[in-house]
Amino acid sequence: MCSSTNFALLLYILFIVRTNADVIEILAKIFLEPNDVVVVILSQKEGYHAAHADYMRRQIYEQASALEKESPKVVLSHELDIKGSWTITPLLIYLSDKFPNTKWFFFCLENTMIQLAKLLNVLGKFDASQNIWIGHALYDHEPTIIHHFAKNIKKFKYPLMATGFGMTFNLVNSLSQQSYESWKTDFSIDASYEFAEFVLKSTNVKLMHIPKICIVSGPDCATYPRFFHPCSSSISLKNVYFAVKTCAKYHVNRIPVIKNLWAKHAINIGYFSDKADKNLREAYIVPNTTEGHCAKTYGILQRASNMMERYKYDWLVIGDDDTIFSVVRLLRLLTCYNPTHSIAIGERYGFRMWNSHHGYQYLTGGAGIVLSAPLVHNMIKTGVCNCPSATTPDDMYLFGVCLSRLGVEPVHSSMFHQARPADYATAYLASQEPISFHRFWMVDPEAIYDEWFAETDSILPKQPLKHTEL
Ligand SMILES: *[C@@H]1O[C@H](CO)[C@@H](O)[C@H](O)[C@H]1NC(C)=O
Repeated sequence: MCSSTNFALLLYILFIVRTNADVIEILAKIFLEPNDVVVVILSQKEGYHAAHADYMRRQIYEQASALEKESPKVVLSHELDIKGSWTITPLLIYLSDKFPNTKWFFFCLENTMIQLAKLLNVLGKFDASQNIWIGHALYDHEPTIIHHFAKNIKKFKYPLMATGFGMTFNLVNSLSQQSYESWKTDFSIDASYEFAEFVLKSTNVKLMHIPKICIVSGPDCATYPRFFHPCSSSISLKNVYFAVKTCAKYHVNRIPVIKNLWAKHAINIGYFSDKADKNLREAYIVPNTTEGHCAKTYGILQRASNMMERYKYDWLVIGDDDTIFSVVRLLRLLTCYNPTHSIAIGERYGFRMWNSHHGYQYLTGGAGIVLSAPLVHNMIKTGVCNCPSATTPDDMYLFGVCLSRLGVEPVHSSMFHQARPADYATAYLASQEPISFHRFWMVDPEAIYDEWFAETDSILPKQPLKHTEL
């Protein structure tokens, strides 16, 4: 397609059938210049993530200079300070105002690998004056909890964020004129899905699937997601404390299951329950709650804070009794963060993100939450995290409202999962190495662990059962 012979032939054909003015117009449409594109990286403030986004920006500049062209503009969303930019919609007005002369926006993550020349080739095939949206399309096989059990499943396509997606300026501009009033959903769970719903409802534009926007790298790919790489050799399990949140009702059905799966690898682990019984004698007692669980999780943080101080643990991992982890992948992830900083890592959800005053983001509890020691101590010692009531939703309050009061922006990792593997699109899971899944409902947890984590975790020894005394 791109060879000079074909190019000459194309020119020749154009010249014999068209006038000069027409030719210039057609060529302008076919050949997109790098600076006709604005790349928008949905980046995060935390050092490791900011560094990745910055590296990606430099890669794009270098590719443009190798093409001897003016580079695309590259926007790092975390530098803008626009609240909720990870849900995309809050960025649209800024983008269409700031870049009125661009033809395309390309939205992606900090781990999206972009082959600039190939991407320009893909985008250049479309008429940028139209409302066009292209990406790697995902769809659900059955209604799923993470998409609010929507029924229009297979027909409804949403983009794989990690490969990025392109939108013409015209489309971004018309979306930016839509009011968020028509878009009041309380929970932001899967930003790419919810954004696709917004696009369809407000402009009737559907995502077009482009095979060259790939899930795995290949010679023809314009973009593909880069898999996670640890930042150094794996950290020691001795520095991590696992807290499992349970209650007497599940001592028999759930605790033995996780003890036999991931928990057998943990060196420091505690089970936090409403009572210690013969099925779980080692349980630590925390306040009993029937819903919301703020008092219970706060109780876990208090005891964990003591333990972390006494035994000098770096990290606290809190999971439910039906959360399944890959311990090895978790340790690898933690190599990229400094445990002396205040850090909270997990799967980010949003509550009323359309409301710029009261909306907030939080880490959803079931996916598992990782907190650094100084943050755990701060949450307890400052008193700013005291639960408004025992039944306040624990994750929304403690890992949302409270973190924001402490000035800590939660770190999102798409490798944590609040739901079961079957609740996610196949290609989505294929584009990453999951760290956690959640819920034992209608699934065999052992089969999930075997399929996703067992092989990776098999490098760890099985730990003898041990109980840390307080
Ligand atoms: C905790 O609350 C549940 C539900 O109200 C109750 O069934 C259970 O007995 C309580 N546990 C304790 C130790 O009181």
